[in-house]
Amino acid sequence: MRSYSLIAPAKINLYLEIIGDRPDGYHELAMVLQSIDLADRLQIAPNSIQGFRIHCDNPQVPTNETNLAYRAAKLMQDRFPSVFDRYGGADITLDKQIPIAAGLAGGSTDAAAVLVGLNLLWKLGLTQPELQDLASEIGSDVPFCIAGGTALATGRGSDLEPLPDVDSLHLVLAKYRDLAVSTPWAYQTYRQQFGSTYISEAKDLEGRRKRVHSGSMLSAIAQGDGEKIAQLLHNDLEKVVLPAYPQVLKLREAFEECDILGTMMSGSGPSVFAIAHSRQKAEQAREKVKAAIADPNLDLWVAKFINTGIQLASQVP
Ligand code: C5P
Repeated sequence: MRSYSLIAPAKINLYLEIIGDRPDGYHELAMVLQSIDLADRLQIAPNSIQGFRIHCDNPQVPTNETNLAYRAAKLMQDRFPSVFDRYGGADITLDKQIPIAAGLAGGSTDAAAVLVGLNLLWKLGLTQPELQDLASEIGSDVPFCIAGGTALATGRGSDLEPLPDVDSLHLVLAKYRDLAVSTPWAYQTYRQQFGSTYISEAKDLEGRRKRVHSGSMLSAIAQGDGEKIAQLLHNDLEKVVLPAYPQVLKLREAFEECDILGTMMSGSGPSVFAIAHSRQKAEQAREKVKAAIADPNLDLWVAKFINTGIQLASQVP
């Protein structure tokens, strides 16, 4: 039986607005999500143990049932038990390049790659919308990771509308290696501090959604105007994460001193990105921030916007 190697890109949030509470306990969101070429690589190979094993040489990555990639595999087993009985389990090897607990959907994109990989390995023929339905059971960002590119995400973050490609922009990303922010903590803290501003009436929710649709970020994307996109970056979670993590604020301020188009924290943080016109400008910003902060714990990457989600890198044989 064949084994597959897949590329699983990270995402950044160009826009993240928290609108209100949802009946399912999550937040009603409006986000613009963007894939970037900082990516994990996954190998999915059939095994003979009638179960799944996760392998990863990064000790920060759990290889048990708490790993989203494992949960994705178990979901496929539960959903397609007779196919699982026929084909057996799989060994899933993660080559982690995306930093962990960084607000870059690293765990979500690995889970998305497992769904795509098992769909191929088990010859299920599931369509992208069918895979995205399964993906939404694993986490809010997982459906986006399947298709990738540039998309408007509403509801819990899983209702997706593809947007025109913005693939000419470059970025520099930074994260303190030992700093992790819990996503539930960030949302709960936001609720405690800003819950009184939440919208709950159905008609008000609809109005807010329409406002996002006709808003300036979406028109900047439609025009492919990188400068405008960078000026309009927005993330409500910065309001709770930056005061609690002064290092992240310092990082953002260091990027503001560079020749970049705009800077923002991604998702629930603590990674910070800055958008640049060219790879050269992104590299210059990386060097300037590295020198300004001079902390051996600070990792920096130069990356590029891309218009793809999970990609097949190779199949053996
Ligand atoms: O969906 P996912 O498991 O990735 O979400 C992680 C956590 O982020 C949730 O448990 C919840 O605390 C918070 N969240 C939220 N509203 C969303 C998405 C995530 O409150 N729309």
